[in-house]
Amino acid sequence: MAKAIVIYYSRTGNTKKMAESVLEGLQKENVEAALKDAASVDVDELLKYDAILIGSPTYYGSMAAEVKKLLDDSVKFHGKLTGKVGAAFSSSANTGGGNETTILDILNAFLIHGMIIQGDAQGDHYGPVAIGSPDNRAIKECLRLGERVAKLLKKVA
Ligand SMILES: Cc1cc2nc3c(=O)[nH]c(=O)nc-3n(C[C@H](O)[C@H](O)[C@H](O)COP(=O)(O)O)c2cc1C
Repeated sequence: MAKAIVIYYSRTGNTKKMAESVLEGLQKENVEAALKDAASVDVDELLKYDAILIGSPTYYGSMAAEVKKLLDDSVKFHGKLTGKVGAAFSSSANTGGGNETTILDILNAFLIHGMIIQGDAQGDHYGPVAIGSPDNRAIKECLRLGERVAKLLKKVA
């Protein structure tokens, strides 16, 4: 069975709620999935997952330092994450507040690792975004991300 990890950083709970829905989407499609706060992830763990999904609040148009630290620490496995599936999501305070640039910054690191990224032609194109606490639309996007990553894993893992 394919394994995925949903990693998030969240100070006020918005990104955590998104992460829980992404997890639910993965589990609905029978992927064994873990949910962890970025600070509690040991970088060595990343190797054992087929998919790595990261959510961050938008801080000044990019990811929180805690998420960046994990990605910087992942240089230890540069080249070893190739072929894993990656995905990202973000919560910001404002529309146009930089949630998509935050997602793209995370995906950028995943691409440099050689990971597989799937865009979305119908839903949030780069990954789910929420303004503040995720509303029904954002929750649906998070569930959809989990389900789509699970379906992709069935093809590539
Ligand atoms: C240091 C800091 C920087 C932030 N920068 C932005 C920003 O550039 N754009 C924006 O829309 N919101 C910004 N916010 C607001 C958060 O992205 C927003 O409150 C988010 O929903 C918090 O997610 P959380 O509940 O998971 O912590 C910032 C918040 C903090 C604390």
